Amino acid sequence: MKIKEIVLGLLSNLVKKKNPDELISQSRGAGLQKNLTAFDLIILGIGAIVGSGIFAVVGIAAAGSVDSPGAGPALVISMIVAAFACVFSALCYSEFATMIPVAGGAYTYTFATLGEFGAWMVGWVLMLEYAIGFIAVACAWSNHFIQFLKGFAFLPDWMSNPPVWLVNDVKTASKILTDSGVEPSTVLPTIGNIPIAINLPAIVIILITTLILVRGTKDSTKMAGIMVAVKLAVIGLFVLVGMFYVKPSNWVPFAPNGIEGIWAGAFLIFFAYIGFDALATTAEETKNPQKDLPIGIIGSLLMTTVIYVSVALVLTGIYPTSGPVSAEFLKAPMAFIMTMVGQDWAAGLISIGSLAGLTSVLLVLELAATRILYAMSRDNFISKRFQVLHPKFKTPHVLTWTVAVVCVLGTLTLDLNVAAELCNFGTFTSFIIVCVAVLILRKTDPNRHRPFKVPFSPWFPLAGIACCLLLMVMKMQEQSDSAVLFPLWMLIGIVIYGAYGYKKNRELEKKSAEVSQSKSKKEVGV
Ligand code: ALA
Repeated sequence: MKIKEIVLGLLSNLVKKKNPDELISQSRGAGLQKNLTAFDLIILGIGAIVGSGIFAVVGIAAAGSVDSPGAGPALVISMIVAAFACVFSALCYSEFATMIPVAGGAYTYTFATLGEFGAWMVGWVLMLEYAIGFIAVACAWSNHFIQFLKGFAFLPDWMSNPPVWLVNDVKTASKILTDSGVEPSTVLPTIGNIPIAINLPAIVIILITTLILVRGTKDSTKMAGIMVAVKLAVIGLFVLVGMFYVKPSNWVPFAPNGIEGIWAGAFLIFFAYIGFDALATTAEETKNPQKDLPIGIIGSLLMTTVIYVSVALVLTGIYPTSGPVSAEFLKAPMAFIMTMVGQDWAAGLISIGSLAGLTSVLLVLELAATRILYAMSRDNFISKRFQVLHPKFKTPHVLTWTVAVVCVLGTLTLDLNVAAELCNFGTFTSFIIVCVAVLILRKTDPNRHRPFKVPFSPWFPLAGIACCLLLMVMKMQEQSDSAVLFPLWMLIGIVIYGAYGYKKNRELEKKSAEVSQSKSKKEVGV
């Protein structure tokens, strides 16, 4: 009997929910203006989406990596598959965003539907999407920065050709050395007997974005517009210049690793679409969410798919991806290809444009990571100390610096590929949970006002779940580093929740019960 009571008590605590009305009333007073149109949303969407996925990860998705087969020219199919996985989830995000238009995205929605434990786990996997994704983009930034420096013939050799251990994580540095026939232990510095490498440009850009965020960013659609224009201009430049060098013979064989390569490519290139979920959080500021939000989300996904497919066709049409490829192609494929075909000026412009584009994505990701952690600290999942605001800039500086330090440590061991894959695992999981949550709330709260409803429910949410699950399961079978690290991450999350969040919330509940008990005793004069 006692055990049964304990188990039931535990279960009821784990699924303790927040009332959506409470969440909405908490967020009132923000007084946001409703002035975004579908067009604005498409621009914002492209700003948040286009980044290292198309500037860097695309090369790995086409050519493959040590533990994953490449899609080859069939990357275009992988891109369309990944876009489909996004569309269904995007529509589910929109339903939630218009129904519970408060900050916090998937984390907040889960608190309203699945309860405390579900919310913690979503917050925890969102750290994979935002914080580990941040590391992936920082690695890509570093690669492009080095490529950019190579363009200046007058620079001293140590700047244009820095030591391999100063611009890479330890795994990548070891691989580059081994591939060039050098024994890593003869080159890499060591601490004790452990070889190390420092990705200095990645660390520097992490520190710069952190400084910017701690000083506070003012929302500037003008700035976002300029970034989008720069990104699209350099991608357009690559396609327009590159198409004259395409040799259709490079598209044969079309799928060198068959369906396996196409799935692996879809899993990885999914990274290039991440960011559209940020659009759903603008629901409160959208003029006509029912019409504009789906147009904005699907429109930006459609546009990015067209852009991505064009890049993939040119990329695989110029450079054969069926066999072994150059390490530089894997790092900064577009700039590398332009140099290869002798268009150094285009390579230079692409490097500058991609650095600007990647910086904007870095800011979005780090900001999102700190916002979610801030909400988690407010909900007692992590220490309240993280809520301290900077005395002058009023930003959560302790939290922002903590994220920065963790990510700097991450750059020492994680390479672009593993970080992007981990980020994808986290994002797929959060998408699945949002799709499930939509179905649950349709049943448990059918009369709630829904300014936007996912069409063809339950089929579209189910399709979202199926697409994301399938891509994750396929990847899990590869036994790659990320497929091992992801379950480990989940396990660590459960342990931290058990050791801190669960206990803390029960303690606070006990305290507030005692306070209200003593209040009511006073009222009845006991
Ligand atoms: N979609 C974002 C990028 O490609 C994360 O950088």
